[in-house]
Amino acid sequence: MVRPLRPEDIGGLLRLLNWMDADPSRRVLAPEARDEAELRWTVDGGQVLEQGGEIVGYVAAYPFRQGGALEGPLWRAGSAAPLLEYADREADKHGWHTLYAFPHESNQRLREELAAAGYAPLHTSYFFVTPPRDLSYPPPAGVEIRLVENLDPDVYCELYRASEDAWSLRLAWTPLELIEHFSRPDVHLFYAYSEGEPVGLVELETGPEAAEVAYLGVAPPVRGRGIGRALLARAAEFAFDQGAPRLRVRAHDHEKEAIALYRRLGFNLEDAVLTYAKELG
Ligand SMILES: CC(C)(COP(=O)(O)OP(=O)(O)OC[C@H]1O[C@@H](n2cnc3c(N)ncnc32)[C@H](O)[C@@H]1OP(=O)(O)O)[C@@H](O)C(=O)NCCC(=O)NCCS
Repeated sequence: MVRPLRPEDIGGLLRLLNWMDADPSRRVLAPEARDEAELRWTVDGGQVLEQGGEIVGYVAAYPFRQGGALEGPLWRAGSAAPLLEYADREADKHGWHTLYAFPHESNQRLREELAAAGYAPLHTSYFFVTPPRDLSYPPPAGVEIRLVENLDPDVYCELYRASEDAWSLRLAWTPLELIEHFSRPDVHLFYAYSEGEPVGLVELETGPEAAEVAYLGVAPPVRGRGIGRALLARAAEFAFDQGAPRLRVRAHDHEKEAIALYRRLGFNLEDAVLTYAKELG
């Protein structure tokens, strides 16, 4: 039976996460912490399956967009159905219209269980990495790249809207949420200006294990001139100057230009994660 995680389950959950890490075909979005103290802080609201005193399954459901997102389900044997049924009950309780799950591309077992439970694949997100190296590339003539010190939410939203093709997650944020996000010491935003007008942006998040490009976009009329590459080069230089051991970038499967850019610059494909969604009545 699925039941709320208790403090004494943390060791068992850690063993389950380590079991997942041992084989990419078991991977799914799950808590990132791999030590008991840190894990304890991050799994509030998690649910577990217990069998013979051992934790053999885990799931959590959190608000996400207009619905809920799952961590897991992660399970060692039998079926994921009880964990997915828990998610349905949570959706019902909170009035969520959609549930999202994020299995690794090679996690066939979970993908089959998700399909059987009424989830459908929406898209794949590819994650590429590179170790520190010189990626410097100058912007084309007349274009300048600068770090944004004081965010104007209107300018950001206009630029984001102009350069974004399909994934307008940030546009749902309030001006205050945007200002707070870009004031974080680990978040860095650069704009590319052409004749004084912002025409492209790159968002970088720095951390001890990797720096990550959260978003890269160039307005369609000025694409194909080297601005995207120059923005990425600036973000890489900033990240490596700060000592980041790796730089991660991402693209969805339909973002062919970005994938071509990462491959052209020699980034290595590290991960492919699917987004599945289940529409609820
Ligand atoms: C990805 C993106 C930022 C590229 O910006 P850009 O300014 O047009 O790219 P550049 O002119 O600097 O191109 C650099 C390299 O990328 C690759 N590339 C870019 N556009 C390409 C296209 N249409 N077809 C094939 N390769 C392309 C090429 O390798 C190119 O180098 P090359 O011309 O020397 O071969 C832009 O297409 C964009 O904003 N896309 C939508 C948002 C997005 O997908 N963001 C990424 C996920 S966060």
